[in-house]
Amino acid sequence: MSAPAGARILPPMAKSDSIFVCQSCGAIHPKWLGKCEACGSWNTLQEEGVRAAPGAMAAPVGKRGKGAAFVDLIGEAQIVSRLKTGIGELDRVCGGGLVPASALLVGGDPGVGKSTLLLQAAAGAAKAGATVAYVTGEEAEAQIQERARRLGVADAPVKLAAETDLRKVLDGLKTLRPDLVVVDSIQTLWSDGIDSAPGTVTQVRACAHELARFAKKSGACVLLVGHVTKDGQIAGPRVVEHLVDAVVYFEGERGLPYRILRAVKNRFGPTDEIGVFEMGEKGLAETPNPSALFLGPAGARPSGSAVFAGVEGTRPLLVEVQALAAPAAYGAARRAVIGADSARLAMILAVLETRCGLSFTGRDVYLSIAGGLRITEPAADLAVAAALVSALADVPLQADGVIFGEIALSGEIRPVGRTELRLKEAQKLGFKTAYAPRREGAAEKAGDNGGVRVREIAHISDLAALATAPAEGRKR
Ligand code: TYD
Ligand code: MG
Repeated sequence: MSAPAGARILPPMAKSDSIFVCQSCGAIHPKWLGKCEACGSWNTLQEEGVRAAPGAMAAPVGKRGKGAAFVDLIGEAQIVSRLKTGIGELDRVCGGGLVPASALLVGGDPGVGKSTLLLQAAAGAAKAGATVAYVTGEEAEAQIQERARRLGVADAPVKLAAETDLRKVLDGLKTLRPDLVVVDSIQTLWSDGIDSAPGTVTQVRACAHELARFAKKSGACVLLVGHVTKDGQIAGPRVVEHLVDAVVYFEGERGLPYRILRAVKNRFGPTDEIGVFEMGEKGLAETPNPSALFLGPAGARPSGSAVFAGVEGTRPLLVEVQALAAPAAYGAARRAVIGADSARLAMILAVLETRCGLSFTGRDVYLSIAGGLRITEPAADLAVAAALVSALADVPLQADGVIFGEIALSGEIRPVGRTELRLKEAQKLGFKTAYAPRREGAAEKAGDNGGVRVREIAHISDLAALATAPAEGRKR
């Protein structure tokens, strides 16, 4: 038999019809090894049969011997109208609705709410007139019906099937000709052409490939649910991400009601959008004002707390950055970070020590972003630094101030984009002052930003002044 297209085969196979596939990177090995030679992971190799090549199991659709049909780039414009699910946050994260003839992977930890979100989306699209198929391999039909009742969408004309056999799923879909297909989850499907257990890399890849192909051929939009493993990979793994057009992750902290939908790959839209939901008794509710959710009650803040005026995608978001600088008991001081990048914290600490003469030696430093949010913007640097300075001095920052800006190693504060958007959001939530980087031509703008006073911070040493004169927020 021929080698699977695109698969890496390490040394030529001896005789056996078994292969060993790394469940982390998908590399194929002829014999079992404790460590994958391709990606270096330990104990990830699993025996998988090799009766058919992944992705090669189905008979080709259409007639053999006919070449590919080429069309003009400047041909008749095909305006693709997106399919709206009626869930605004989901549609926005996908770039303004779901795209026909595409496959979208929705990843997330078990229990985060993927099935809930997709059932609500399926119901929304069906109510808007789309033909919607919901294929579940995880639950029985009665369980889905019960959930639909609880979510208040039992009247939506969604077609339901509890099936794990890919062949039967595809045959059913070809008859139904849906506009939208939900497959929950890709790890439960199996293809009879593949001799491995459901959930293994080979099966997951083959099933995802077939479903993505079905999407392209039929014009349907296919939503695949994928469980994420403990270390944050979609089990059976990155290979699926390459097969689909878009990948969104559904995230949430255990014990908190917020859920964040984040696009990490999108062929038809931006990848920096987030959608914010709140999980309640009636399923996932959209959150029109996420800043209020992440900030908590207004009023005086303790020392070590700074409000960062961030932007996620096209949406401004105010979040609380919390820092604690506790005396270290003994040994090396700890640096612990939740919701931000620890390398960035190390950099900011080094800049504060070098450029402002502040010493965090002998202090355990903890940094946390409130509400289970994860911050990736460099613009958060200045808020992190402010929280650290305030924590070290044990002096609260001005309660009605927001802060943003990127810190350079020199201690200079660099300008960041979307200043207007940040200021507008701050003003909307009742903040009066914004500590921001110096901007070109900003002199006349200062003090005239819809009620938010802009205090320019040119150098990180200006921060020290903030924490020592909190009531005034003194400016150099
Ligand atoms: P689910 O969608 O089953 O998660 P996943 O498919 O990602 O595994 O959601 C599971 C959790 O959501 C479960 O712990 C219960 C909670 N939940 C609610 O709080 N309210 C609801 O209306 C629903 C349907 C679920
Ligand atoms: Mg589920």
